[in-house]
Amino acid sequence: MSASGREIILGIGGGIAAYKSCDLLRRLKDHGYLVTVVPTPASLNFVGSTTWEALSGRPVLTEVWQDVASVAHIHLASKADYIIVAPATADLIARIAQGRADDLLTNVVLASGAPKLVVPAMHPQMWLNASTVANVEILRSRGFIVMEPEVGRLTGADVGQGRFPETSKILEQFQEIAGWNADLLGRRILVTAGGTREPIDPVRFIGNRSSGKQGYAIARAAVVRGAQVQLIAANCELPDIEGVEITKVETTSEMGDVLAEKFPECDALIMCAAVADAKPVQISVEKIKKDHLESIELVSNPDLLAMLSTLKKNSQILVGFAAETQAHIENAAKKLKSKNVDVLYVNDVSGGAIFGSDQTRGTILSKDGTEIIVSEASKDTLANVLLDQVSFRLSLPNV
Ligand code: CTP
Repeated sequence: MSASGREIILGIGGGIAAYKSCDLLRRLKDHGYLVTVVPTPASLNFVGSTTWEALSGRPVLTEVWQDVASVAHIHLASKADYIIVAPATADLIARIAQGRADDLLTNVVLASGAPKLVVPAMHPQMWLNASTVANVEILRSRGFIVMEPEVGRLTGADVGQGRFPETSKILEQFQEIAGWNADLLGRRILVTAGGTREPIDPVRFIGNRSSGKQGYAIARAAVVRGAQVQLIAANCELPDIEGVEITKVETTSEMGDVLAEKFPECDALIMCAAVADAKPVQISVEKIKKDHLESIELVSNPDLLAMLSTLKKNSQILVGFAAETQAHIENAAKKLKSKNVDVLYVNDVSGGAIFGSDQTRGTILSKDGTEIIVSEASKDTLANVLLDQVSFRLSLPNV
């Protein structure tokens, strides 16, 4: 990990595992991080300020009332690249989940937008208590990474889940966070996923084979890179993603309505969903008998992406997808132009390949003429490659 000059706030909760964080602090410093320790007042019963000052080489404050002129909580929050709270007690987790700001650490956590890693350690019954479970869920839904405590021997004779993990495990988890490229921090990314369905009657629909995996992979990757992500999911059977606001839709018209509402506010739209191109002129209220099913009169759906591209501001980036079974590049190049998108990923879907799979292959075309061939990659990898394209274009002056 390339850490030199990166600032960490190491928050210490009032649990016996506080002493284990001395080792964590040492190892973080070994990696070149600059660490400011912010203990809760209660934690000083376990490890005192002197130890933290000696190990971190920095002054240690616990209350907002100390060194008031420096407005420590705002100063610390704004310089933090990462916050690690280790150990996090049940009480500290509850206070953070509630947005309390009753000591310096909770003030800093509340005032900082930095990625946050929480390392709980407590008695198993406290960890499994419904209140703690709910508080942890709140933190995770707000983008905190909360580690699972280890199972093993606790302070007394008790055994169960609640132990503070080994330093190496915490570092491993932290490395994942620190490896985050936060290049989309504060960017608003709108993603569509899945496939719209058009009802024919109460039991039948016109649909397609999109699983939503690619769109979900993009939403997941974007949130990790710091973006505020809204996902419009059409008929996907995939688990929700922490930190992503998901709106579920069924039909093209529903997707169009949500896009109309959310598009003006986004920095980039990644239109991954397979949109049903046509729908029945009429939806039958009753199930249509099989002998009346020879033909269904259809009407075209609007092309949502093409429509939105006419409304797009210069600063907004549009990414389209294309599913082709022949003349991929030629057809995709036409779509890039007709839909007026910045980037278009064309999937080779001949023989039903790609749908439902975790792998993809295709080509990324862009307005400026570049072509990237994706010969075989996971949908997670493609997600990041496409986000690189978005991030690069958002960083250009003049967009
Ligand atoms: N798209 C859309 N609205 C539609 C159809 C497609 O917004 N009614 C978007 C898709 O989300 C995708 C891109 O347009 O990002 C291309 O979709 P694709 O199905 O490959 O192309 P179509 O425009 O439907 O053209 P065709 O089916 O003729 O290949």
